[in-house]
Amino acid sequence: MRQVIFHVTCCMLHVTMLHKPVLLKEVIEILNPQSGENFIDTTIGDGGHAQEIIEKIKPNGKLIGIDWDREQISKLKIKFSEYLKSDNLILINDNYKNLENIIKQYNIHKISGILFDLGFSRYHIEDSGKGFSFQKNEPLIMRYENSEESNGMTAAEIVNTWPEEKLEKILKEYGEEKFFRQIAKKIYEESKKNPIKTTFDLAGIIRNAVPFWYAKRKINPATKTFQALRIAVNDEFENIRTGLSAAVKIIANGGKIAVITFHSGEDRIVKNFLKEKQTEKILKIINKKVIKPSYTEIRENLSARSAKLRTAVRI
Ligand SMILES: C[S@@+](CC[C@H](N)C(=O)[O-])C[C@H]1O[C@@H](n2cnc3c(N)ncnc32)[C@H](O)[C@@H]1O
Repeated sequence: MRQVIFHVTCCMLHVTMLHKPVLLKEVIEILNPQSGENFIDTTIGDGGHAQEIIEKIKPNGKLIGIDWDREQISKLKIKFSEYLKSDNLILINDNYKNLENIIKQYNIHKISGILFDLGFSRYHIEDSGKGFSFQKNEPLIMRYENSEESNGMTAAEIVNTWPEEKLEKILKEYGEEKFFRQIAKKIYEESKKNPIKTTFDLAGIIRNAVPFWYAKRKINPATKTFQALRIAVNDEFENIRTGLSAAVKIIANGGKIAVITFHSGEDRIVKNFLKEKQTEKILKIINKKVIKPSYTEIRENLSARSAKLRTAVRI
């Protein structure tokens, strides 16, 4: 399990906390992995949930661990070398939206559970150098996938080339940012004077676009804009829809799907998807009320505070 002490700069305060996989106990209780079963962790990240699952499915079960960020997979190849040797783990660097193809390719049957732990990880904020956080001055990339391989869009491209209306739309829909008009206008105007290159450039522009009281709140005024850009760059909402549809197709009858979300946009997609599949009698929702981290978990791991867990079983 990850036991890394790390520092988060939050509202001028330095908070030291122990980083742990979010809602671990609850996820394991619901997925209930047993020796010999096969599971998929679609967002293996630092491997916290994965390790707990592998320990329970050993010696004959398999976990397929997917991550879109090649660096995450490279690190796990070292950290989990024993699981790779014992054939309890397969690591795949891909987008989970390609789940159906991935499973066909590896010819794995009878999947008992699939976990989605959405969004970015501690590594993205602290070490990736890809501009996921306004706390460090880095180039505005915000891609999980390595861009030299994909020629994919970056956050810099969005802020420097998109028209004002399109910027407004993502800030409103993906960021749920109440000052979406003011921020989009300022980004557009500033990008025409000088290209916006770094996270600090962008955070400064946002700070100047919003009212004084908003800029002075505990939550950094750039939070929602950064979230919106990350979702747009990676097409995250579309990935969730496609990934969940694929999960339903490949999971065994009686198998469980667990999804952890971190903001209301993601949670709405998951909630609606599970409800729709329940109406079609394909899934049955396990926990009618969304599961949230306990007070103790939030106290130990501040980044868990907005997490929500939804789960369903294939019928
Ligand atoms: C919240 S972290 C997962 C943390 C993990 N459960 C753990 O215990 O360490 C989310 C991970 O999903 C990856 N990711 C984001 N979008 C993805 C996608 N579409 N396909 C596959 N991986 C993705 C990110 O690179 C990140 O490593």
